[in-house]
Amino acid sequence: EMDVAELEDSERGEHEHFLAKEIAEQPRAISQALRGRIEERFATVHLGGLNMDVREARAYRRVTVLGCGSAWFAGELGAQMIEDLARMPARAESASEFRYRNPVVEPDTLYVAVSQSGETADTLAAVQELQRKGGRVIGVVNVVGSTIARQVDGGIYLHAGPERSVASTKSFTSTLVAFALLAVHLGRMRDLSPADGRRVLDALAALPSQVQDVLDTERETGTVAAVAAELATRESVLYIGRRHGWAVAREGAQKLKEVSYVHAEAYAAAELKHGPLALVGPELPTVAVVPDDDLFDKNASTLAEIRARRGPIVAVGHRDVPNAGRTLVVPRSEPELDPVLLSVPLQLLAYHAAVALGRDVDRPRNLAKSVTVE
Ligand code: AGP
Repeated sequence: EMDVAELEDSERGEHEHFLAKEIAEQPRAISQALRGRIEERFATVHLGGLNMDVREARAYRRVTVLGCGSAWFAGELGAQMIEDLARMPARAESASEFRYRNPVVEPDTLYVAVSQSGETADTLAAVQELQRKGGRVIGVVNVVGSTIARQVDGGIYLHAGPERSVASTKSFTSTLVAFALLAVHLGRMRDLSPADGRRVLDALAALPSQVQDVLDTERETGTVAAVAAELATRESVLYIGRRHGWAVAREGAQKLKEVSYVHAEAYAAAELKHGPLALVGPELPTVAVVPDDDLFDKNASTLAEIRARRGPIVAVGHRDVPNAGRTLVVPRSEPELDPVLLSVPLQLLAYHAAVALGRDVDRPRNLAKSVTVE
């Protein structure tokens, strides 16, 4: 018989840690999330688990997304996709805050609860409070048959496979994919054109091999590992971005804190001048999320401000970013899906920083994989 340690060794396969394994599994996890869900003919998607007919889906006028930690950050990106593609006002909120308010629950708002484990107490409590007030809640959940999956009125399973490392990685990117599907679904029954639907669906289909490219490049060059070794020596790291780059920055900062214990703080890039710029100098490195989009010049001028104060900068983007000492370059997707690819180098950065510091990578101190207490 195998003991627990031996069993874990066999599950990890060639990987030293579950975190590395799960980062590497993302191309497959994304393919699984897409499988059987694309309806080429109408440039839309089929999400049978939603249990929602077209009339009901069209009656919703707003979307509110709830989750904790990384699930919340993924929900921020999901809300942006729904607003962009379905043109419905959409926002995300931490489930743990939501439940302590006396939230106004509206019949024409669709509520979406996001949870990898499906067991997070604060998210479950938010779902129950919503349902008690007559709110209709769908889930974006990984673990089949989990408490939240059973509680909600319908939903989308990630099918990402088991995630063992406390830090979420493949569940984060798979959640973004699930939201892209939901956004196309809601969009195509409203005003999203077939051409725009197809544009997003084609970009989704390309994601697995693009994520694989990011992983292969790192295996060949070790660039992220080298940057991580440098950042691991610092007290603190600032993460910045604008719009969806900001949500990517928040997730990146969370990942670094969680597994390496290096302090990290994420700020909306335009907020720097309203306070945190006071901290910037040679001792505080910045990780900047700078996709090659309509905000490139705005982000570049923020980096010029940081550089003028001799702050070291690492960028993640699609081409060399002015003023950054180094840019971690990822393949270009469509703007709605760029966050999937931009997130991967930040996962690797956190992983390699944790390894460099000799941390317990898969079981960071003080944390549990699913937080079933309030
Ligand atoms: C992710 O790296 C964290 N460990 C944590 O923020 C997690 O995302 C959060 O606790 C929510 O978990 P859930 O998705 O299982 O509900």
